[in-house]
Amino acid sequence: MRLRISISFLVLALSAQAQSLRLSETGLYTNISTKEVKPENRFYDPQYPLWTDGAEKRRWIYLPPAQTIRTQGEGADINHWAFPLGTKIWKEFAYNTDSGLHRVETRLIEKVAEGEWEFGSYVWEEGENDAVLAPSGGLSNHYPVAPGVSHDIPRRADCLTCHRRGGDPVLGFGALQLSTDRDPLSMPSNSVGLDLLMLAREGLIDRQETELNPAPRIHAATAEARVSMGYLHGNCGHCHNPQGSAGWTNLWMRHDVEMTTEQAAPAFLTAVNQPTLFFQIPGMESTFRLKGHEPDKSAVLYRMESTDFNRMPPIGTKLVDERAVQWLREWLEQLDP
Ligand code: HEC
Ligand code: HEC
Repeated sequence: MRLRISISFLVLALSAQAQSLRLSETGLYTNISTKEVKPENRFYDPQYPLWTDGAEKRRWIYLPPAQTIRTQGEGADINHWAFPLGTKIWKEFAYNTDSGLHRVETRLIEKVAEGEWEFGSYVWEEGENDAVLAPSGGLSNHYPVAPGVSHDIPRRADCLTCHRRGGDPVLGFGALQLSTDRDPLSMPSNSVGLDLLMLAREGLIDRQETELNPAPRIHAATAEARVSMGYLHGNCGHCHNPQGSAGWTNLWMRHDVEMTTEQAAPAFLTAVNQPTLFFQIPGMESTFRLKGHEPDKSAVLYRMESTDFNRMPPIGTKLVDERAVQWLREWLEQLDP
């Protein structure tokens, strides 16, 4: 039996305020037909992106003038940032086809009041001249990405299953994701967008450049351990953290940049050589979350490789990320049983 979690205790309210019905009205582009993005919307590129069945993603953030992101003080810390009112972030999803890159949807979140964010997805029309706000029930099997497999435009409620914690629901714009100490396995190229140092230099966050030196990173004994924990942070940690929708599993994979060793990281502490709470690999006597030297006894890997109801993450993806499975296998081989 698959357990389902209720979203009735959501802290984020879906706003009743009227949302723009077209992407062209949201302020992303100077001109949507030429796809020229307004200069105040800054491109950025998280080093541990969410896997969405091979989608190519581009992201832009708008910060209201003369406002600062808080990374300390009430309700904020270096791992959990607080954004100014009026912040908007767009994320575009496109898939490679024989005829080139095809835009499918552009998601938008906007901070409309303290504690209140608006969520929407804009579905690109044929010809990609504009995109229209998707119905709140989403659009399942909207765009084919592999034989027999199609991309779903998420339901509005699904946005909140992933995008929620005690404070602002921004997931991929933070200290680890924007660090200038980029993980070469996850992200071979340097960021061409906003990074942590630029944010400090431009006064867009409440920290000085010197406070961010050395740049945050995952401290791990090997490159495979680093990239595996980064992957789990980017792909699992938004539900699997104490405040997330899977917080109650006590399997926590959201990384904390203050941790200085591999063993101190939540993913290591709550998963490595830890038995599962409920989940059993079929036909296996004992199942661990991550088992050193024994990847086949590891529920994390089993569920990342599943394409049925056992699949993790349970929403937002249908195809196995083979590159990630390989990283995790290599990491597990290095760990003590
Ligand atoms: C399966 C979990 C999941 C679902 C469902 C989901 N998101 Fe996200 N989203 C993420 C993660 C993780 C990131 C950060 C990593 C990245 O950008 O690749 C993210 C990033 C974003 C961003 C960039 C800002 C940020 O928080 O980092 C926007 C905008 C966004 N999502 C909008 C939406 C909207 C709107 C929906 C619903 C229509 C939605 N998302 C559904 C997990 C999810
Ligand atoms: C959208 C939220 C969400 C995301 C994202 C997510 N999970 Fe989960 N996960 C859950 C929920 C809810 C459960 C509990 C129910 C179940 O086992 O299906 C769970 C349970 C698990 C369990 C079983 C834990 C135990 O001890 O029984 C494993 C293993 C797991 N997840 C791995 C992962 C991995 C690996 C990722 C990322 C690649 C991931 N999850 C991403 C929601 C999520």
